[in-house]
Amino acid sequence: MIKFENQKFHLSNEYFSYVIEISRGKHLLHRYWGRPLREFRDSAPLQAIDRANAGQLAEFENERTYSLDVLPQEYPVQGHTDFRIPAYRVEHENGTNISELNYSSYKIIDGKPALKGLPASFGDNCQTLEIELVDICKNFTVYLYYTIFDDSPILTRSAKFVNTGGKKIKIRHAASAAVDFNENDFDIIDLYGGHAAERTVQRHKLQRGIFEVSSTRGASSHQHSPFIALARPDATEFFGEVYAASFVYSGSFAIKIEAEQFGTTRLVVGLNPDTFSWLLEPNEEFQTPEVVLNFSANGLNGMSQSFHKFFREHLMRGKFKDQVRPILINNWEATYFDFNEEKIIALADCAKELGLELVVLDDGWFGKRNDDNSSLGDWFVNREKLPNGIEGLVNAVHERGLKFGIWVEPEMVNVDSDLYHAHPDWILHVPDYKPSFSRHQLVLDLSRADVREYVLDAMRKVFSSAPIDYVKWDYNRHMTEAFSAKLPPERQLETQHRVILGLYEIMEKLVNEFPDILFESCSGGGGRFDAGFLYYMPQTWTSDDSDAVCRLSIQTGTGMAFPIVAQGAHVSVVPNHQVGRVTTFQMRNFVAMCGTYGFELDITRFTAEEKDEVKKYVELYKEIRPTMQLGKFTRLLTAYNNGNEYAWQFEDENRIVVVYFRVLSQPATPIRILKLAGLNPDREYHLKKYFPPKKMSVDGGKQVINFQEKSFYGDELMNNGLAVEKIDGDFAAYMWVFEK
Ligand code: DGJ
Repeated sequence: MIKFENQKFHLSNEYFSYVIEISRGKHLLHRYWGRPLREFRDSAPLQAIDRANAGQLAEFENERTYSLDVLPQEYPVQGHTDFRIPAYRVEHENGTNISELNYSSYKIIDGKPALKGLPASFGDNCQTLEIELVDICKNFTVYLYYTIFDDSPILTRSAKFVNTGGKKIKIRHAASAAVDFNENDFDIIDLYGGHAAERTVQRHKLQRGIFEVSSTRGASSHQHSPFIALARPDATEFFGEVYAASFVYSGSFAIKIEAEQFGTTRLVVGLNPDTFSWLLEPNEEFQTPEVVLNFSANGLNGMSQSFHKFFREHLMRGKFKDQVRPILINNWEATYFDFNEEKIIALADCAKELGLELVVLDDGWFGKRNDDNSSLGDWFVNREKLPNGIEGLVNAVHERGLKFGIWVEPEMVNVDSDLYHAHPDWILHVPDYKPSFSRHQLVLDLSRADVREYVLDAMRKVFSSAPIDYVKWDYNRHMTEAFSAKLPPERQLETQHRVILGLYEIMEKLVNEFPDILFESCSGGGGRFDAGFLYYMPQTWTSDDSDAVCRLSIQTGTGMAFPIVAQGAHVSVVPNHQVGRVTTFQMRNFVAMCGTYGFELDITRFTAEEKDEVKKYVELYKEIRPTMQLGKFTRLLTAYNNGNEYAWQFEDENRIVVVYFRVLSQPATPIRILKLAGLNPDREYHLKKYFPPKKMSVDGGKQVINFQEKSFYGDELMNNGLAVEKIDGDFAAYMWVFEK
């Protein structure tokens, strides 16, 4: 997969080629990324690309046709002749930040070396190119890593800095990857949002200037997802070229795109330089997190499908990653803090009756926590609420044939807690300045070994206090005053990254020590839905917004990069607690089935009729769950449509499930025909189940089509399509289940 010839590295598989050139014996230039090439013979040579002119700084004296300000590079330096965004910035003891990296050597490694202390992809079917770049003053060396896998259009990249000189250096910026394109005709697709409004898909034209999506919050954040796509303007869900990046990191990040004077585009992905710096003593090294680059020749669905497959096969770990996930009932929106053993057991009884499989006890079971003012950090059970302890409750739930899960928020502390009184200096804070509060809580300084030891010990005790089957790991505020009482002044800007490394260290230990626990990450909903977390925990609570309509957009955005089986999705009460909307029961159930289906409401209050309906849905879901959770996911309608209609297809070797949602009913409703995708044209697909929406309006449409028990060939379903019959009413949800 990796060849070196004529000073060029050609990385290729059946999905893409990526070409790097060593130019003039020292510069590492980027020459190509895109559809696979059998050979790279340089049909668009550098001389034609360079636009150096009189006003341009040239690299070589009196040679005006070789300017690094135009030429495409692999890891651009700053402070010399390239004025675009640099890939890194290193500050020397004398206060300057100039350096020059020249190509030195390379290695081709079978497989992929692990990234010390960091989440990263893995696999046997891959090769890694290591390129050594040496600073001309021998102060430091940078190793660039490129891994190509034989089964996907993915290239992973990272960089490692080694202090090879005798003096200290400070890394002020260290990107994981930079990619230069000799063109700028792209649309940017990014995922913006907020709390309870995560990952809204936004598509806009790349304009001249610098565009950035980033976080300085110490979390990958609700506000911007560490994801970007550069799509050809004509790229759609099914056709066209898309270049995308997903950053394998859970803290502050920056993705910058610069479209500059000569029509080039530079993409730089890495830790956010605004909240980062790293002091490197002689002989020390610094490894950047990994970025997953993805080239799709098959539009946005191609991009998403490659990310899903790659993350499931080469990033997620543990025994649950390929297993269907249990249908759960979580007590949060059912009781909030107002619960006791009796109420949870009542939920368990009802869960059993309905066919659910896992009871999750959310926030409020520890210390004296009856609201969000107190007790984070005091991880011992509240006997007033749970007189028989966690063990008693777990036994009661297990006796009913259900699994048991518990909520924790280990990275936080409340001032009103024993932990804070014993260790007030364990929080992130700056002496003399008051710490900022959010939800009455403060962030523990996990850059400290003693704090990490406490958290580890506390979690070990909770997780081994009873046979717990599932853990929801929450994180409900962002980092502020990210300074550590333990670090010297010159290292204070390392704090945010050290805290994330500390968290990764803790999670690595816990997921290995408790392999039978299914972990779900959470951060005030989906504030840390990132590839870094998926390495440790195979699912994430997608959003605190459980309204089915909002979820259509949130789950669409999340699915741009992340697998369906990783997305927590629950049925909640109406009027919905976040937006007050009343949606149909069928829509709430079907939308939640498009993630890891669960319930988050007081199920003991269901009417007999609702119970019958839930039983029907639960039975249906158990049958189609492997297809929904582990099958191939396709958006049949575009991700950034009018917001009124969504259609998704799930496919595995046994069946196809198609869902269609229409938020509001309209007069003169446009005809909607869904053209299914990727089917075998010669195969027959038998429509085993069809669920149209229930008739909502007085004189609106009604079910007229009797699809039941019909079979269609794949060619007809793809080309003639599947008609959505007109049934009036808001919040309409349809489902078709085809057996192959
Ligand atoms: C935020 C989570 O997203 C919710 O589901 C719930 O667990 C609360 N925290 C509990 O405090």
